[in-house]
Amino acid sequence: VTDAPCAGFDEKLAADIKIEPSDPMPDAYRKTLIRQISQHAHSEIVGMLPEGNWITRAPTLKRKAILLAKVQDEGGHGLYLYAAAETLGVSRDTMVAALLDGSAKYSSIFNYPTLSWADIGVIGWLVDGAAITNQVPLCRCSYGPYARAMVRVCKEESFHQRQGYDLLVAMMKGSPAQRAMVQEAVDRWWWPVLMMFGPHDQDSVHNGTSMKWGIKRFSNDDLRQKFVDATVPQAEVLGVTLPDPDLKWNAERGHYDFGAIDWEEFWQVVKGNGPCNRERMAARIKAHEDGAWVREAARVHAEKKIARPTH
Ligand code: 3HC
Repeated sequence: VTDAPCAGFDEKLAADIKIEPSDPMPDAYRKTLIRQISQHAHSEIVGMLPEGNWITRAPTLKRKAILLAKVQDEGGHGLYLYAAAETLGVSRDTMVAALLDGSAKYSSIFNYPTLSWADIGVIGWLVDGAAITNQVPLCRCSYGPYARAMVRVCKEESFHQRQGYDLLVAMMKGSPAQRAMVQEAVDRWWWPVLMMFGPHDQDSVHNGTSMKWGIKRFSNDDLRQKFVDATVPQAEVLGVTLPDPDLKWNAERGHYDFGAIDWEEFWQVVKGNGPCNRERMAARIKAHEDGAWVREAARVHAEKKIARPTH
C-alpha cells in the first residue's frame, strides 16, 4: 500500500469535485472507503433482523405492510452499498466473508433485542433518526458512488423515521399500558442510539483522515450533538422522558448537555459480547448457507450464457 501522490486527487478534493472509480486515488483512501461502505452495508443487512422479528406479529395489516416495506428497504440499502463498495475493486464475496467470519463490523445498535411492539416505533424514530443525521452529510461524501447511493437511501430513511414516530404517537394516545410500553422501549434504546455515532472524536481512529478526505463532513460528536438537539423536542411532543438526568438545555452553548456514555458497554458490544451478537451472526450465517444453492444456480446459468454461441 503506497501513498504516492495521485495526479489530480488533491485538486479534485479541493475543488469539491467527486472522486470517481476510475480516478487515481491514494490506496489508504480506497481502503478506508471499502472499510466504511462495506460495514455500512453489513449494518443495513443485519439491521433487517431486529425488525423482521415483528413482521408476523404486527398489530394491524397496515402496520405489517409498513414494516415489511421498511425491512425490504434496508435490504435494498445493503445491496446499493455493496455495489458502491464493489466500484473500489472489492468483491461481494470478500465483503460478505468478512462479515461472516467476524473480521468486519456492523453497527452496534443492531445487537439489542426488540422486546415489544413499541421497539419497532422507537427503532424507526431514534435509530433511523440517528441514521439520517449521520447519513445526510454522506450525500456530500467525496467518493461519487457512495454519495449518489446515499441520496436515495436518505429519502427512504425519512419514511422510516416518520413511520416510527407515527406508530409511537398512536400508542401514546392508547392505554396506560401502551404508554408504559413506549417509555420502557425508549429507556432501553436511548443510550445505545447515542453510541451509534461512534467514539468521542478524541478516541476516533478515522475522524482525522475521513474529514481530510471529505468522507466525513462532520465529526462523531458534532453529529451526536445535532441528533440530541433535534430529538429532545420530539420526545417532549411525544410525551416520553429520555433516560438521562443530566440532559438539559445549555443556553450558553446553544445545545443540550447530556450525560456520560458507557463506552465499556459500547466496546463490549462492538467486540461481539452484546445481548444479540451471537444470534445475529448465527442468523446471517444460516441465511448465507441456505442461499448457497441460489448462488450456485446463478453461477452455472451465467457460465451457460457465456458459453452459448451467439447467432
Ligand atoms: N458500531 C460498530 N462499530 C463502530 C461504531 C458502531 N456504532 N462506531 C464506530 N465503530 C468502529 C469503527 O468502524 C472503527 O472500527 P474499524 O476501524 O474496524 O472500522 C472504530 O469503531 C473507530 O471508530 P471511528 O469513529 O474511528 O470510525 P469511523 O470514522 O468509521 O466512524 C461511523 C464510525 C460514524 C459509523 C462511520 O463509519 C460512518 O458514518 N459509517 C457510515 C454510516 C453507518 O455505517 N451507519 C451505521 C448504521 S446503518 C443504519 O443505521 C441503517 C438504518 O437503516 C437503520
